Amino acid sequence: MGKSMGLPGSPVPTADSFILIVEGVRVMSHEVIIETRNLTKVYRDFWGRPKVQALKALDLQVHRGEIFGLLGPNGSGKTTSIKLLLGLLFPTDGEALIFNEPTTNVAKNERIGYLPEESYLYKFLNAEETLHFYGRLFKISKAERTKRVGRLIDMVGLSGAKHRQLREYSKGMQRRIGLAQALINNPELILLDEPTSGLDPIGTSEIKTLIRELREQGKTIVLSGHLLADMQDICDRIAILHRGELKELGKVTDLLTVQDVTQIKARNLSPGAIDEIRELIRRHGGEDIAVDHPTTTLEELFLRIVQESELHPGRRKVAQDAGRADALVAGGRSKP
Ligand SMILES: Nc1ncnc2c1ncn2[C@@H]1O[C@H](COP(=O)(O)OP(=O)(O)OP(=O)(O)O)[C@@H](O)[C@H]1O
Ligand SMILES: [Mg+2]
Repeated sequence: MGKSMGLPGSPVPTADSFILIVEGVRVMSHEVIIETRNLTKVYRDFWGRPKVQALKALDLQVHRGEIFGLLGPNGSGKTTSIKLLLGLLFPTDGEALIFNEPTTNVAKNERIGYLPEESYLYKFLNAEETLHFYGRLFKISKAERTKRVGRLIDMVGLSGAKHRQLREYSKGMQRRIGLAQALINNPELILLDEPTSGLDPIGTSEIKTLIRELREQGKTIVLSGHLLADMQDICDRIAILHRGELKELGKVTDLLTVQDVTQIKARNLSPGAIDEIRELIRRHGGEDIAVDHPTTTLEELFLRIVQESELHPGRRKVAQDAGRADALVAGGRSKP
C-alpha cells in the first residue's frame, strides 16, 4: 500500500458538514447524507409472484463523515440495501434519499463511488487502463486523470502490477483495483460491498486504514460485511440486519459497552495491593471480581508478528517446550 495521501480535489468541508475532533473525540456532523424510510424489497419470480422478502421496512439515516456498517449474515439484505441506495434496484415499498434526492436521480451518481460485491471490471485491461476508462466516463480531463490514476494505484498498493491485465489478478488484487475504481471520481459518498472479502489480514488492515483516511477527508462511507472484528474496528455506527430486518442500530462503542461492569486497569501492582483493592470492592458491594491480564486481538498479534518478521527476516520463534525437547535431543547426542 502506498503512503497515506489525500485524493486530488477533496472537497473542503462546508459549514454544515464539519467534523470536529476535540482531544481525539470525533463530533459528527448531523447533515443527513442517506435516509431510508420504510425501504422494502421483495424479489419476484418469473411470473411476478413474491419470492423473497429481502428487505423489510428499513428506516435509517447516515450522516456526513461517518463510517456506517451494514452487518449481517449471508442473505440478510446487505447487498440489496446498497443496490437500492444506488438506484440499481427499485424498492417494492418505501423510499431512499441520497443527498436529499430520490435514488432515481442519476445526477447524484457523480458524487458516489461504488465497489460492488463481485468484480465486473474488464479482464483484458490493465490497472491503469481500467482507471482511465472509468475516469473518461466521468469526463475527467486527461491531465487530471493521469494524476489521479497514479495516486490511486499507489494508494491501493498495485504499483508493481499496474501493467498486468486484470485477468491475472488475485482475488485481493481485484478488490484493490475495484476500490481504486470506486474512488476515481473523488466521490463524497462511498458504498463498499464487502471491501475486505478475499484480502489477507495485511490487505484488510491496509484497506481499513485507507477507509479511515477517506473519512478524515470528510467523505461518508457505507460498507457491508460479516467479519465482526473488522466491522467493530472500523465502523462509527452499525446496523445489524437479519433476514431483511433491522435488528440493532447504533454507535459501535455504545453497543459493545457492558454497562454493569466496571473495568479498572493498572500497571505494576503488587499482589498485596491487588488484595486490598479486592477487599475495597467487596466492602462497596461489588461482586464477581475478576483480576486478569488483558489480551490483544488475534489481528493485532498477527500484524505485529508479520511486521517483526519483516524487520528481522530469518528469526524464528520456537515454543518453549519444543525448545526443551530439542535441547534434550541435542544433549543426548552430544559427546560426554
Ligand atoms: N436477484 C435476486 N432474485 C431473487 N432473490 C434474491 C436476488 N438477490 C438476492 N436475493 C435474495 O435476497 C436475500 C438478500 O440477499 P442479499 O444479496 O441482499 O444478501 P447479503 O446480506 O448481501 O448476503 P451475502 O453476505 O451473502 O452477500 C437473500 O435471501 C437472497 O437469496
Ligand atoms: Mg452481499
